[in-house]
Amino acid sequence: MGKTSRDKRDIFYRLAKEQGWRARSAFKLLQAEETFHLLDGVTRAVDLCAAPGSWSQVLSKHMYEPRSPEEREKVKIIAVDLQGMAPIDGVHQLRADITKESTAEAIIEYFEGQKAQLVVSDGAPDSTGMNDFDVYMQGELVLCALSISTFILERGGTLVAKIYRADNVSRLYVQMQRFFKDVCVFKPSASRNSSIEAFVVARQFCLPEGHRPCNLTTEWHQQPETWLVQRKGSEPKPMVHVPFVAYKGDLDADRSYSLDEDYVYHEPVQQPLTAAYQDVQQKLGTTSVKYKPIIVIHDEELTKEWREEHKHESKEPVED
Ligand SMILES: C[S@@+](CC[C@H](N)C(=O)[O-])C[C@H]1O[C@@H](n2cnc3c(N)ncnc32)[C@H](O)[C@@H]1O
Repeated sequence: MGKTSRDKRDIFYRLAKEQGWRARSAFKLLQAEETFHLLDGVTRAVDLCAAPGSWSQVLSKHMYEPRSPEEREKVKIIAVDLQGMAPIDGVHQLRADITKESTAEAIIEYFEGQKAQLVVSDGAPDSTGMNDFDVYMQGELVLCALSISTFILERGGTLVAKIYRADNVSRLYVQMQRFFKDVCVFKPSASRNSSIEAFVVARQFCLPEGHRPCNLTTEWHQQPETWLVQRKGSEPKPMVHVPFVAYKGDLDADRSYSLDEDYVYHEPVQQPLTAAYQDVQQKLGTTSVKYKPIIVIHDEELTKEWREEHKHESKEPVED
């Protein structure tokens, strides 16, 4: 397949390169911003699972670049990821795991004790190709994004997080509704119709009375009463529905577009700084995974003896 093949198949990939975005996902946040005006008046924002950084570029473009040098001093954008990423103007980077409480502490420290007005998360665990497992892991990561938000978001704040609309997604909506007064699902046109990906836009954050911020994936462990409340009764809980908002643009992510006469090929804006699975590859480089063969030696005399002893036994199959 030629170099230009993906440019034809994926209009948002092509536009991202032409407009200088590091990933096509920039358009998903841009479309969310156009629909919900998420960035109006925001000076403290957190980009969770940020690498290679196209969402941080969007934050910088809207929150940092248009401001005067004095105003820029007040703007704080922090990008968190397990992987490193190339620098972006006005964005502070933190290489950390969003599932850790220490990451929440580091974010608050960067904000000098204040909390964020906006948290965005486009997080995705490494895909295994086993659909059910990938969907489950994605759900857990969303819960972790929500958990860390309960530590770092100020009252009235907003969380935007990538979700997969699959079985059990109601469980995520229920959790979101515990902490946000206004929850809806957003499908940007830059996200393929054929994909189960969508984004939960949760606004008006409010910590429920008595809730101690914790990792919600293990909340029942630390606060057994929440587990008991969830488990009480044998009736299955009704499905939870939240409003669905779609961005209707002119471009269709599922369609191929031919290349214009003045088309010029562009290289990707930023190659990843660290290769995926780098840690695993390094470990494998120093680990030997050779197995010793198992050798079975049959003693002819013993085999004959055994056959003689068992010759009258039934050959009927035995049911276990
Ligand atoms: C789809 S990419 C994000 C793309 C990014 N929003 C952009 O626009 O460039 C998903 C990212 O999630 C990160 N990630 C997954 N699990 C994480 C975790 N527990 N903590 C921090 N980052 C994580 C991965 O390292 C990966 O860079």
